[in-house]
Amino acid sequence: MQQPVGVFDSGVGGLSVLASIRHALPAESLIYVADSKYMPYGCKPESEILARCLQIADYFAARECKAMVVACNTATAASVAHIRHRYDCPVIGMEPAVKPAVQLSRSGVVGVLATRATCASAKFNRLIDRFTHASILVQSAPGLVERIEMGDLDGEETKALLRRYLQPLLMQKVDTLVLGCTHYPFLQSQIRAIVGEAVEIIDSGDAIARELARQLQSRDHLQCSDQHGEIEFLSSTAVMQYASLISRLWGAPIRLQELPF
Ligand code: DGL
Repeated sequence: MQQPVGVFDSGVGGLSVLASIRHALPAESLIYVADSKYMPYGCKPESEILARCLQIADYFAARECKAMVVACNTATAASVAHIRHRYDCPVIGMEPAVKPAVQLSRSGVVGVLATRATCASAKFNRLIDRFTHASILVQSAPGLVERIEMGDLDGEETKALLRRYLQPLLMQKVDTLVLGCTHYPFLQSQIRAIVGEAVEIIDSGDAIARELARQLQSRDHLQCSDQHGEIEFLSSTAVMQYASLISRLWGAPIRLQELPF
């Protein structure tokens, strides 16, 4: 089936998920939306995040997307149930990879780094309540998304924030760290430099791509072609500077269009 898959995030974070999808399903055409004018979602009330997510889902539906991926943990917690209620197509959401982390952890002490809104959400708290046999340490990380959106992956301020959020987890002996925000994989090497080699770092991008493939396959909606699908990039602030940030993180030149809302 030729129709595109819609993928969105508050900003550039979902590109980490888009890369996993592109790798797993190269023939699919993809539309990526970065809601950059409204980022960060992580410090907004759930009702505001929900309103934006529904607008983006409506846009994907108008573009006849055959599936939607909410490539943002914060947006998923606020909106995925509502989007599923509104549309029949597969709607894949992100969730911090707590289950695989608990399975992998030897010490039973797992750290989760996520936005404030994700940490406060009912959906996330229901998830961690399922793992009473492990010790799950939740650390919200305000400010990190903004540093990444500024393109500052390596600066002193970014590293200082990372140290501030990671050191308490290390003191409590986490051996597995969940990146519970799709922006954070772009700081993987900076995080690694702080936590060392002994801590496993997990994110959900590949699992989401597998789930998308499974759902498309089960409906017989996979695109069968040996050509690469098109990728369209849109954002709510389609300025040059943002296009170059996306190109840098995506690893190839892109053309950025402005979202019509
Ligand atoms: N990338 C989003 C996530 O996975 C959060 C970004 C934001 O706070 O806007 O949670």
